[in-house]
Amino acid sequence: MSELISPHGGELVNRVLDEAGANAARAEAQSLPRIDLSAKQSCDLEMIGIGAFSPLTGFMGEADFKSVCTDMKLSSGRTWPIPILLAVDEADAPKPGQKVALYAPNGELQALMTVEETFRHDKKLEIPNVFRTEDDAHPGVKQVLDEGDVCIAGPVDVVTVCVDPDGPEAFLDERLTPAQTRAEFAKRGWSTVAAFQTRNPIHRAHEYLCKCAQEICDGLLIHPLVGETKPGDIPADVRMDCYNVLIENYFVVERTLLSVMPAAMRYAGPREAVLHALVRKNYGVTHFIVGRDHAGVGDYYGTYDAQLIFDDLDPADLQIEPLKFEHAAWSHKAQGMVSAKTFPKIKGDQVFLSGTKVREMLGNGEKPPAEFTRPEVAEVLIEWASVPVS
Ligand code: ADX
Repeated sequence: MSELISPHGGELVNRVLDEAGANAARAEAQSLPRIDLSAKQSCDLEMIGIGAFSPLTGFMGEADFKSVCTDMKLSSGRTWPIPILLAVDEADAPKPGQKVALYAPNGELQALMTVEETFRHDKKLEIPNVFRTEDDAHPGVKQVLDEGDVCIAGPVDVVTVCVDPDGPEAFLDERLTPAQTRAEFAKRGWSTVAAFQTRNPIHRAHEYLCKCAQEICDGLLIHPLVGETKPGDIPADVRMDCYNVLIENYFVVERTLLSVMPAAMRYAGPREAVLHALVRKNYGVTHFIVGRDHAGVGDYYGTYDAQLIFDDLDPADLQIEPLKFEHAAWSHKAQGMVSAKTFPKIKGDQVFLSGTKVREMLGNGEKPPAEFTRPEVAEVLIEWASVPVS
């Protein structure tokens, strides 16, 4: 059997304590200073712990922070597009050398951390470099602006991997770690695997991308992001129902694996596409789907900026191959999914629906056309849209 792709940096990080270590950490935490994490920080911590952010073993120090912002590289020279920081208020900042206990938003002890370094959170450096805008209406920019002014850096030892196992968005059966997806790919005999990142239900255009990728790879990992998303995005538990019903009805189950990724969205468009690709490499994926406006929000990024950014990266360092797709839609004339690469543009021929229009239809109990979304998926969404928000 051929070897799976190497993790970024060569080795899969595992910062999760075994049971004895976790018990000792719980006892030790009682006498340590307490840091309460935001949802985004808690997601990042889980990603570090399970090795999804390999080679990171903890929250970043200043040298990595600066070189990531300016050069999209860790100080080791490896590609890395987005700072992974633990920023706290100045008053809560521990001293270098101190150990601290990190608590998830639900109050659960998530990890211990040895603080190796503290440094000023240079938001003026981070925001324009990462987001290509300083507009505080951008949800990722706003997130950073709301964070603390002091970053604390150092390795983490994770006590609890999934901090809310009974929560609606825990999906423990589908929350595979990178080591587990790698084992599953090996078991299924897949050596080439395409991953599909999404924060939405899978509509026909998404499905088309997935199917094209399946034609050229042994298997497909449908890998929805279920960490923190912005208000207005469809909740992950509803999306999971959509994915399951779609896979059951329209995919070859032996060639499709559904597993969740516990990362937070940053809506950083091009830079986030690179992060999404590197993370999937850690999960053992060889090909990564990047379509139109990947990880974008509003009009901040050009339609294909998230594809163009890969042209400036070193393929030998990246290793995972981006599969770049043009904007796809149903064509009435072709009676199938097309893009500008495969079918001539004819005025009024293609089915385009805005997110707002789709919401409006679902809210009225109306199914969007089958050319836009599969009826089984539409049914799940209509049921969700009909439940009043409490
Ligand atoms: S994202 O934030 O996770 O990128 P979304 O779930 O909408 O958002 O998209 C998932 C993937 O599908 C991304 O790679 C995106 O670029 C791609 N995509 C979404 N819609 C289309 C479309 N109509 N045509 C081509 N690619 C698309």
